[in-house]
Amino acid sequence: MNEKLKGKFLVLDGPDGCGKSTQTRMLSQWIAEQGVDVVSYRDPGTTLIGEKIRDILLDTAHEGMGDNVEVLLYMAARAQLYKEHIGPDLAAGKCVLMDRWLSSTCAYQGWAGGFGIEKVIKIATDSLERVWPDVTVILDVDLATAAKRMQRDLDRMEQKGDAYHAKVREGFLKLPEIEPTVKVADATRSVDQVRTDVLKIVQDLSCRT
Ligand code: TMP
Repeated sequence: MNEKLKGKFLVLDGPDGCGKSTQTRMLSQWIAEQGVDVVSYRDPGTTLIGEKIRDILLDTAHEGMGDNVEVLLYMAARAQLYKEHIGPDLAAGKCVLMDRWLSSTCAYQGWAGGFGIEKVIKIATDSLERVWPDVTVILDVDLATAAKRMQRDLDRMEQKGDAYHAKVREGFLKLPEIEPTVKVADATRSVDQVRTDVLKIVQDLSCRT
């Protein structure tokens, strides 16, 4: 088990309010308990350049930003993160656990924003060193449950409204048909129940490879 998690690239993703930050923390702790060197990063962000791009993307003053501009900015932040951290960490045999990745661009910009999931994947293929991780776990949650978990000021993406966010969820749920390494967990349930499902998906991966 320990050996199999080394050098693995894992992603937790899902709609805003799905609980992925809590699950990322718990999964990271579990991987460390297996004796594996694990690092965890957020996308967009983490690097100096990525955090600046994140600020531009989430600033509520930038309400006129086009979906194509969002795609390019999210992709740029991700490319920098791979260059500075993910690539070297994987090469050193660490397990890399991400809070969001390409699956978000597919669901938000590709599907909800109407840019096109296939076009997003094409841009990723042309610009990223690594397109898909070993596994992406989508924490699936309905709008009402998500809203209850987001009692705070909303950023520019979160302010896009219910119709947009319903499509974001739809976009995430399309991904397993397009990319077999994408799995879905029901995140409407308790933190512990979701944790059990996430661990099962990660354990299945480490048994297979
Ligand atoms: P976070 O708050 O979960 O870190 O994500 C920042 C926001 O950016 C969140 O509303 C989801 C959105 N997002 C996209 O629209 N496309 C992307 O590719 C990524 C990574 C995030």
